[in-house]
Amino acid sequence: MLEMMLHPSEFHSQIELHNHLTVEFTESLARDVREGLNAGQKHLPSKYFYDARGSRLFDRICTLPEYYLTRTEMKILEEHAQTIMASFARGDLVEMGSGSHWKICRLLQAANGTGGAHLRYVPFDVSKDALVKASRELMGQFPQLAIVGYVADFTIHLHLLPGGNRRLFLLFGSTIGNFPEPEAVRLLRNVQEIMAPGDRFLLGFDMVKPAYRLNAAYNDTQGVTSAFNKNILNVVNRHLHADFNPALFDHLAFYDKEKEQVEMHLQAREPVTATIADIDLCVELAAGETIHTEISRKFTPESARVVCSNAGLEISRWFSDEEGWFSLVELALSRA
Ligand code: AVJ
Repeated sequence: MLEMMLHPSEFHSQIELHNHLTVEFTESLARDVREGLNAGQKHLPSKYFYDARGSRLFDRICTLPEYYLTRTEMKILEEHAQTIMASFARGDLVEMGSGSHWKICRLLQAANGTGGAHLRYVPFDVSKDALVKASRELMGQFPQLAIVGYVADFTIHLHLLPGGNRRLFLLFGSTIGNFPEPEAVRLLRNVQEIMAPGDRFLLGFDMVKPAYRLNAAYNDTQGVTSAFNKNILNVVNRHLHADFNPALFDHLAFYDKEKEQVEMHLQAREPVTATIADIDLCVELAAGETIHTEISRKFTPESARVVCSNAGLEISRWFSDEEGWFSLVELALSRA
């Protein structure tokens, strides 16, 4: 569905926006909520955090002193953007789960420096608001840049991407950490399958580090992560006419050292009953019972290499910060 073409007169560039989440979104939410809230350990998929408010809350998380991820990844990008873009002067920058414009901005600035004026930006995000906002920011800074945006789910809709050009795929922020190993391999495999031999893939991994740092990063003192976590209930309320009261839940996040992942839950403070009208479901939680809302896996150099190689991808370059807190790896198709 080609939703709109914007030709804002104050800019020379244009956004072309494709929206694939109109009807499908509510349907898949209904399916996921029914399945997840009927399970023994109740759970909801973390992709539903990112409505307009959730995307704004996540942006705030990225600036929190405890949340080292974004800062660290930006530092790595700043240091290596020239190197990364030197071999990519023309083609599509396909950013999955794009969110805000900060990271792609660094790459585009670096490309400008090395004469890369033939780039097209192809953001892919479930939040239309975040996508349009980021595109507008970029248009102001890069008036020559063509933007083709997809309001879509990168676990489902990757095949819709335009072909023909060389492509640099981007998955920043350790978004890959939100997927259990088999799903992570499947996601990377989906990208691998549409990659041509000259294409590249820049993938961010948050690395294993002392538990106190990880616990702090997901339990900030200002309560932004808590608001972000609870917002998923607002999304369910709005789209499925449910009546969850987020105030009856506590934010619960902890690092599990064995599993090398942070788990986020919503914990009922007292017995909770909620009705989800559109799917005819009545949910009951006992006091202390949780809804599992997110995993955020942390990687070692070895586990990062394994997930990539199981998807047929080979690490060509590895960029990291001094402490080794975060890794940006550049991937190419494995030679058979
Ligand atoms: C956007 C998936 C990278 O897992 O750290 C931030 C989301 N959750 N605080 C992460 C998140 C809680 C974030 N990712």
